[in-house]
Amino acid sequence: MKSFKLIIALMIVTSFVSCGDKRTPQLQYMPDMYVSVPYDANGVNSAGNVIVNRLPVAGTVSRKGIVAYDIPNTNEGYEKAKLELKNPLVVTEETLTNGKELYGIYCAVCHGVKGDGNGILSQRDKFNGIPNYKDRDVTEGSIYHVLMHGRNLMGSHASQLKYEERWQVVQYVEKLRSELK
Ligand code: HEC
Repeated sequence: MKSFKLIIALMIVTSFVSCGDKRTPQLQYMPDMYVSVPYDANGVNSAGNVIVNRLPVAGTVSRKGIVAYDIPNTNEGYEKAKLELKNPLVVTEETLTNGKELYGIYCAVCHGVKGDGNGILSQRDKFNGIPNYKDRDVTEGSIYHVLMHGRNLMGSHASQLKYEERWQVVQYVEKLRSELK
């Protein structure tokens, strides 16, 4: 009986202590789920707290983190990219390391670790017509173009790679190409 009372007393105390002040939660596990971050088109202006409709500028397209690619998937587009499109990234040890890693994930199955076209899918006769990079007259621009649109049997890899990652892969392909005999 004595311990039963003790348990009841402990339960009452715990119920007070554990709940605390509901308005100031002590710990938010996954705060994004409590405090959402919506896009607020309706702001309050500084004068008199009047709600104003903040509309985006006419013709605005939201492209957060996305860099548009306007060169079309045509022969002319290919030639244009080949001549004019330049890599915005400077070659560093870090970009090459990332490029190598991504190449290993997305390209080596077909193109081979060295870029000679002898990837595992080629060895097992699952995919044919994969070129040795050395045999193709490519530039940084044309490699990026092929990554975006694909070419003949090769599909587009635009959705697998982000803007900067694509250019890192381009750097690595150029490196492999320069090392092939
Ligand atoms: C499923 C196999 C496959 C994968 C995966 C693949 N490729 Fe290709 N790739 C090909 C084939 C086949 C061709 C030859 C296309 C043609 O010109 O007919 C090619 C051609 C190319 C060319 C030469 C295009 C030209 O202008 O002549 C480049 C550069 C290239 N690939 C880069 C890449 C990169 C970078 C990746 C990884 C992000 C990749 N490929 C992933 C199969 C693949």
